[in-house]
Amino acid sequence: MLFRAILVPFVVGSVLAGHHDEHPAHKTPFQYITAVNRTQPIKLRAKPVCGSFSSQNFTEVNTGVDLNATKTIVTFGDSWTSNGSNGTIPFAPIVFPPNPSAGARQGNNFRARASNSYVWVENLANTIGAKLINYAVGGAVVDLSAYNSTNQGVTYTSDNLLRVDFIDQTNLFLEQGRFLSDLDPDTTLYTVHFGINDYTQYQVAGGDWNITSSTYLRQLGILQANGAKNFLIHWLYEEYNVTNAFQDVIQQGLQAAHAENGTNFITVDFFNLFSSISAKPEYYGYNNNTCLISQNFTTFGCEDPDYSIFYIPGHPSGTTHEIMSEYTILAAETC
Ligand SMILES: *[C@@H]1O[C@H](CO)[C@@H](O)[C@H](O)[C@H]1NC(C)=O
Ligand SMILES: *[C@@H]1O[C@H](CO)[C@@H](O)[C@H](O)[C@H]1NC(C)=O
Ligand SMILES: *[C@@H]1O[C@H](CO)[C@@H](O)[C@H](O)[C@H]1NC(C)=O
Ligand SMILES: *[C@@H]1O[C@H](CO)[C@@H](O)[C@H](O)[C@H]1NC(C)=O
Ligand SMILES: *[C@@H]1O[C@H](CO)[C@@H](O)[C@H](O)[C@H]1NC(C)=O
Ligand SMILES: *[C@@H]1O[C@H](CO)[C@@H](O)[C@H](O)[C@H]1NC(C)=O
Ligand SMILES: *[C@@H]1O[C@H](CO)[C@@H](O)[C@H](O)[C@H]1NC(C)=O
Ligand SMILES: *[C@@H]1O[C@H](CO)[C@@H](O)[C@H](O)[C@H]1NC(C)=O
Ligand SMILES: *[C@@H]1O[C@H](CO)[C@@H](O)[C@H](O)[C@H]1NC(C)=O
Ligand SMILES: *[C@@H]1O[C@H](CO)[C@@H](O)[C@H](O)[C@H]1NC(C)=O
Ligand SMILES: *[C@@H]1O[C@H](CO)[C@@H](O)[C@H](O)[C@H]1NC(C)=O
Repeated sequence: MLFRAILVPFVVGSVLAGHHDEHPAHKTPFQYITAVNRTQPIKLRAKPVCGSFSSQNFTEVNTGVDLNATKTIVTFGDSWTSNGSNGTIPFAPIVFPPNPSAGARQGNNFRARASNSYVWVENLANTIGAKLINYAVGGAVVDLSAYNSTNQGVTYTSDNLLRVDFIDQTNLFLEQGRFLSDLDPDTTLYTVHFGINDYTQYQVAGGDWNITSSTYLRQLGILQANGAKNFLIHWLYEEYNVTNAFQDVIQQGLQAAHAENGTNFITVDFFNLFSSISAKPEYYGYNNNTCLISQNFTTFGCEDPDYSIFYIPGHPSGTTHEIMSEYTILAAETC
């Protein structure tokens, strides 16, 4: 495939295999490791639109995943979920003051954390007290073979970084990640966030969404075959006919997985959150849309990125990532 796993000594949180100690639920967001005290001036104002799991259309539900019981999160996705590592190299911890390249090496051909603080899944893991194993990579799509712009062999992002897909991320996880932790199926949550780059690549030169949906569901099947019983699925923060139709197909695939294997799913629609934010940003506490003009510069920024919806174009600020986590927990607990 596109890359081989380089076996570097990962520094991961300690996991006590076989221990069943009290696992207190933390439901209020807290500062896990910070160099300075940050403020969270943005308040979550949206409520999930809970639907029925048997619906033909994608919706927000929880079929029985217990976030309180979750001890490990394994995550797949794109720059909205990536910590800046490309899956093989553990980078230095997050830095302060805010920098779009926090957590990664700056300059050409190095991946970067696409926000100025923790991304949503880090906040989620910190809030529920779970260990995180992150396979998300910026620019990732579900299946490179689905789009005419990415199906001609090795392919790169606009920043000249290797573009990977859900298949690559799953392969790396199966080679490496599942040995990094005690992945007890009952206490491990697998999260999946894709679609933004699929839509972009589809816009570039067309593609076949049937490949996208069948690969997506096949990867979920492979993960289930390797023990996954609990998933958190995020729907796209924007709505387009093609992505809506794709998400409907996935929703139906989740029903099949639940019926066949008893697999449980939380589904969360970021469109509900982001359409609510863009309708009334001031109500949330925002005073700016996008802080930086590009991911390459920290100059020309806004006065305070904590009040900005996006930090770099198309990528949420740290405070937005915090309410994305809160929204996800709210959907998991109320739907
Ligand atoms: C952050 O605030 C907490 C509570 O006020 C305080 O205990 C802690 O020392 C502060 N940390 C830093 C790095 O200022
Ligand atoms: C709901 O799903 C069906 C079947 O996929 C589709 O034909 C219909 O357009 C969807 N409705 C909406 C409102 O998206
Ligand atoms: C999870 O823990 C919180 C706080 O203790 C509690 O309010 C909630 O009901 C629990 N949820 C489940 C599904 O047990
Ligand atoms: C990013 O995630 C990888 C895989 O979980 C981990 O090894 C690495 O330490 C993380 N890096 C940061 C900066 O959190
Ligand atoms: C950012 O830098 C990368 C690497 O040099 C370059 O490929 C890209 O075009 C730059 N993007 C912008 C918006 O300046
Ligand atoms: C990850 O980064 C390393 C170091 O820059 C590079 O050798 C490797 O090819 C990258 N892998 C991917 C999938 O981008
Ligand atoms: C994409 O490629 C397929 C065949 O690989 C072709 O049928 C289709 O017309 C292409 N789409 C566009 C928009 O060029
Ligand atoms: C995708 O699948 C649908 C339903 O099975 C079918 O109607 C459609 O023709 C397929 N599209 C392509 C491009 O193969
Ligand atoms: C059910 O689990 C098996 C692995 O045990 C997997 O191959 C299959 O794809 C799953 N079914 C669905 C509908 O996801
Ligand atoms: C998307 O669907 C809506 C109604 O379902 C339709 O009015 C609109 O033209 C469609 N847009 C595209 C780009 O196909
Ligand atoms: C957002 O920040 C930019 C950059 O500092 C600034 O030019 C713009 O006026 C700000 N917008 C608002 C609505 O404050």
